[in-house]
Amino acid sequence: MQMQANPPYGGRLVNFLAEDLRAEELRAASREWTNWSLVPRQLADLELLLNGACSPLQGYMGRGEYDSVLAEMKLPDGAMWPVPVVLDVTESLAAGLKPGEPLVLRDREGAMLAVLHVGDVWRADQEAEAEALYGTADPAHPGVRRLHEEMNGWYVGGSLEGIELPIHFDYRILRQTPAQLRAMFLHLGWSRVLDVQSREVMHRAEYEMTLAAARELEAALLLHPLVGERYNEADRVYFNRVRCHRHLLDAYPQGTAMLSLLPLAPRANGMRGALWRAIVARNYGCSHIMVQPGEEDTGYGDLVKDESFAGEMERLGVTWVPWRRWVYLAEEDSFAPEEEVPEGARTLALTSGELLDRLAEGREIPKWFTFSEIARQLRQTYPPRNRQGFTVFFTGLSGSGKSTLANALQVKLMQMGDRPVTLLDGDIVRTNLSSELGFSREHRNINIRRIGFVASEITKNGGIAICAPIAPYDKVRREVRAMIEPVGGFILVHVSTPLEVCEQRDRKGLYAKARAGIIKEFTGISDPYEEPADAELVLDTAELGPVEAVQRIILHLERKGYIKASGES
Ligand code: PPS
Repeated sequence: MQMQANPPYGGRLVNFLAEDLRAEELRAASREWTNWSLVPRQLADLELLLNGACSPLQGYMGRGEYDSVLAEMKLPDGAMWPVPVVLDVTESLAAGLKPGEPLVLRDREGAMLAVLHVGDVWRADQEAEAEALYGTADPAHPGVRRLHEEMNGWYVGGSLEGIELPIHFDYRILRQTPAQLRAMFLHLGWSRVLDVQSREVMHRAEYEMTLAAARELEAALLLHPLVGERYNEADRVYFNRVRCHRHLLDAYPQGTAMLSLLPLAPRANGMRGALWRAIVARNYGCSHIMVQPGEEDTGYGDLVKDESFAGEMERLGVTWVPWRRWVYLAEEDSFAPEEEVPEGARTLALTSGELLDRLAEGREIPKWFTFSEIARQLRQTYPPRNRQGFTVFFTGLSGSGKSTLANALQVKLMQMGDRPVTLLDGDIVRTNLSSELGFSREHRNINIRRIGFVASEITKNGGIAICAPIAPYDKVRREVRAMIEPVGGFILVHVSTPLEVCEQRDRKGLYAKARAGIIKEFTGISDPYEEPADAELVLDTAELGPVEAVQRIILHLERKGYIKASGES
């Protein structure tokens, strides 16, 4: 008899995909129907519903199921279910939906993926949901914050007819449905499989930890990195993570491990989060599970001691294997669980922050820490600062000297010649990108966001952007920083020349016109300038000449490693 993988939750894998003829019929009829375009986390949910990983759910939950899951962690038929699986939509869409009507679910490019036959439509109970999923309604909790900020406030439940699974152009060979993975396990004779649901790049410590766990359990390993969350094809973090997992797979003994991408967007922590992952693992055919915690995805450490959790897992038929921290024992050149380190032994570990610092500074990555192929991959994804792009963002009053400094800095950086330099001066932008905009708060914000977008693209591709708008409002300046910092350097320079000096200079005669009321909403006179508290540099051109001021910026860039000290002046 052939050994079977763990059977699906509820007995069989649900399959919603419509037959070809029916799919054609739905496509033809859909021209008249209402559409909803799914964001990445919703695409991930739909993929897990359509591919059977959420079996036995028959579609998006209705109101009764939602309430019962939040209150009792059960579906109305009594089966354990830990998290809501609902489609969140805007109030305006919800207002127009009627029970029984079809809603077409599409991806960002407009491809039709499924038809939702609308059942219940209701306003989300975000407080109750936060309490149930994260054990707190505190808006500072990262999971609760995402619930409020990223989820729409209205839910739609109903049954689904799938047209096709969400389309992926990347790593198609690493994307398996539960049915496909089960078939592979059967083919390989893998009846005991440890599902390793990772969220970060795994290094030697995680490799040794997972290998030891699989050996002890006599199970094969499924490397199952989560890719449903904030997934974006242009995201270098994502591509880096998958490439590193591919190198990691090569390190396991032949025939003991497999790699497949898991399109899951996490949505709970602690017991509920763990049970949700375990249901998915079981549907993919796994008998054991280990979960790497993430930012809002925590509280798994103590679960082993929780009796009600143990009972639920036993009924579910999946074994929970804790994700343990292993450290490097320097003298023995080996790894061990942190809590089993012999007294006095010298241990080494690197946090992900320390790793990123080393990479940014171009320092060596220790051999014990990771595999050489992974180190090479990391160096490629995270080049040292002197090969990264960066943005120098000047902000200050009209006439403060921003343009003079920006032009002078451009010349200095071009003289160095190692990266392309683009100047986005206020005038250049207003002529070429923002000619239709005026100076209301709303228009200024649009203008600054456009500058931020262009600068982030330049920075992401390794160039230098110099921006010099007034940018009087703090909030949008911070937005720009948040846009650019993940892809390179961001240096905010406050040109703090006092208003009296700017007004005295009045090179364009605008201050006089503003005082006379001819120009309205003029920054510093009839519109506020919010001084930045987060500037890397503050330069007052009433006290510093342009040569000196630019030299300060150059020194800052050198100190931070963005440019190399050069003998030329
Ligand atoms: S903002 O607030 O960042 O969008 O402004 P910015 O794009 O840098 O444009 C500022 C230049 O426009 C001229 N100008 C005004 N500035 C401020 N307030 C009002 N109402 C206004 N109307 C016209 C002014 O010449 C600014 O140029 P600079 O180079 O800063 O002197």
